[in-house]
Amino acid sequence: MNTSDYNPDFEALLEYLDQKYGCNLIGNKRSSLIRRFQHRMQQLKIDSYRNYLQYLQEYPEEYTSLLDTVFINLSGFFRDRDSWDYLAHKIIPQIIASKQPQEKIRIWSAGCASGQEVYTLVMLLVENLGIEQYLQRVQIFATDLDKDALQQARQASYTENEVKEIPSKVLSKYFEKVKQRYIFHSKLRSTIIFGCHNLTVDAPMSKIDLLVCRNVLIYFNLQTQASVLVRFHFALADQGFLFLGSAENCTITNSKNIFMPVSIKHHIFVKRKNLTLQDHLLLQPNNHQKKAIYPLNSQIRIWQTAFECSPFPQVVVDHKGCLLMANKQGYTLFDLNHNNLGARVQDLEMGQIVNLFTLMKQLHCDRHPISLKNIEWKSDRGTTYLDIYVTPILDQSDSLIAANLTCVDVTPYTQTQNYQGLLRN
Ligand SMILES: C[S@@+](CC[C@H](N)C(=O)[O-])C[C@H]1O[C@@H](n2cnc3c(N)ncnc32)[C@H](O)[C@@H]1O
Repeated sequence: MNTSDYNPDFEALLEYLDQKYGCNLIGNKRSSLIRRFQHRMQQLKIDSYRNYLQYLQEYPEEYTSLLDTVFINLSGFFRDRDSWDYLAHKIIPQIIASKQPQEKIRIWSAGCASGQEVYTLVMLLVENLGIEQYLQRVQIFATDLDKDALQQARQASYTENEVKEIPSKVLSKYFEKVKQRYIFHSKLRSTIIFGCHNLTVDAPMSKIDLLVCRNVLIYFNLQTQASVLVRFHFALADQGFLFLGSAENCTITNSKNIFMPVSIKHHIFVKRKNLTLQDHLLLQPNNHQKKAIYPLNSQIRIWQTAFECSPFPQVVVDHKGCLLMANKQGYTLFDLNHNNLGARVQDLEMGQIVNLFTLMKQLHCDRHPISLKNIEWKSDRGTTYLDIYVTPILDQSDSLIAANLTCVDVTPYTQTQNYQGLLRN
């Protein structure tokens, strides 16, 4: 954010929208947000953010009008026709060919506005697959932050002007004309799962083969664009495609390590190699402001130090039960050295006290932290009692990637308890 864009009253307004409606606009381009808010305030002849906040509190229905001003829900069928043709002839057939005959095809229209984009997708998929196959195999999600736009999308009712880009043959095949309006085929409509979803904060979908997000990223600042693209990377299946809007090629320049262009001209990209730690950091929700305060290097340093300086021994193991890292206390307690990194924990001394195979299996099933109390460990150094807290580490699609084991030495406490028990008997 530009410092000249900072105004505490405006921030209070954004905070109110977030708290009251869950509408998080922190990642949006500040200058255009301010312009749109001011535009709305001028219409109402309100001269300060503070007064506008009062107005919003007094007239809750104003929220809808504000959203209409902030999010321009402009959309259209086959908007940028050449790119849709390319998608229909080059990309969709490729997705179908990469699948087994009965395998599901998962599509996500993110920022679908009033639905034209998702219905365009449905028509292209039906043309490629045939209606039977489409109904059996395609799972299609359409999301937007704006609930009113979503409601229009669900209704799928359009004016003559709105459907003018659809060739007449296609129009009569997929739409029914009811009193001067064109309604999209109800059976096909029912295959779409609509949902309210904020791209900047909500968890992404998963295993998506084609993610269409057009003319949405342009509303976000650069940092938010990068973080949303990382979420998209998570959302996509391996070899999944991303289809952006015509003004959005540049947004991907900073994310070229995770997406590879298939057609720059048509703004189509394919998912590339794995994420780096920097990409993971961008995924932290709601930390846009923190990032402005701390540069990335400092953030990494803070995370490392928080782990390394913990007074409790900690080790991290991967989902196969191999040692990934340990803090200083962890190295000391379990007598580890750097050569042990990558080794199976069961082959190390600490393998005597925890059965990692069983633990990982349990984490895999229910994903909940596990507490192991008062675990007895006999070593050359004598008998130690440990409480061990096992926390699953999940990726964005909820798959178990690792586990953190934090150990608390409860030996003195346990020995006192045992001693008191002996005295009582
Ligand atoms: C210009 S429309 C694009 C519609 C459609 N994708 C197209 O290109 O025809 C932008 C849409 O993005 C939605 N949007 C803006 N910010 C969003 C966010 N953070 N999460 C989800 N949707 C958002 C708006 O509500 C609006 O419907």
